[in-house]
Amino acid sequence: MTPGAQNRTLLVSQIKDGTVIDHITAGEALNVLTILGIAGTTTESLSIATNVASGREGRKDIVKIERRELRKEEVDRIALIAPHATINIIRDYEVVEKKGVTIPRVIRAVVKCPNPGCISNASEPIESAFEVLPKGLHCLYCDWMITKDIASHII
Ligand code: CTP
Ligand code: ZN
Repeated sequence: MTPGAQNRTLLVSQIKDGTVIDHITAGEALNVLTILGIAGTTTESLSIATNVASGREGRKDIVKIERRELRKEEVDRIALIAPHATINIIRDYEVVEKKGVTIPRVIRAVVKCPNPGCISNASEPIESAFEVLPKGLHCLYCDWMITKDIASHII
C-alpha cells in the first residue's frame, strides 16, 4: 500500500461500539436498512457507505450502527438481498464477533404478497409469511410465488 492509501480509502470512521454490516451487495444498503426497520425516522447513529471498492471482487456497501448490537436472528433476514454480508460486533473498537448471514426458512413481515386478494393484504392484522424456496419466495397464505426482484416487494 502506498503511503496515505489507508486514509484515502477510509470512507467512514471506525466505530467504538455497535454493529458493522459489511460485504453487503453493492447498492443494497438502503434496502438492508428497510428490512432491519431502521430506515426513516430513527434515533440510531448510522454510517452508510455504498459502492466502495472491495478487494478484487468489485464493489460493496457497508452499514455501521453505533451503540447497538444486532442479534444474528435479526440480521439473517437481509440474506435475501445480501447473501455475502458479514455481521461484525464491535466493542471498544475491536471486532469481538464476526458472522455470516444465513437465509431463514420462513420470512415474516418483510415482503408484501403481490396477490391483491391475499389475506395478508387485507386489513386484518396478519403479517406476511413466505417460505424461502430455491426458486423464490412462496406465500404461506395464498401460494403465490415471488421469483425475482425481491427488494421491490419489501414492505
Ligand atoms: N470496523 C469498524 N470499527 C471498528 C472495527 C472495525 O467500523 N472499530 C469495520 C471495518 O471497517 C470493517 C468491518 O468492521 O468494515 C470488519 O472489520 P475487520 O474484521 O477488522 O475487517 P476485515 O478483516 O477486512 O473484515 P473481513 O475479513 O470480514 O473482510
Ligand atoms: Zn399471499
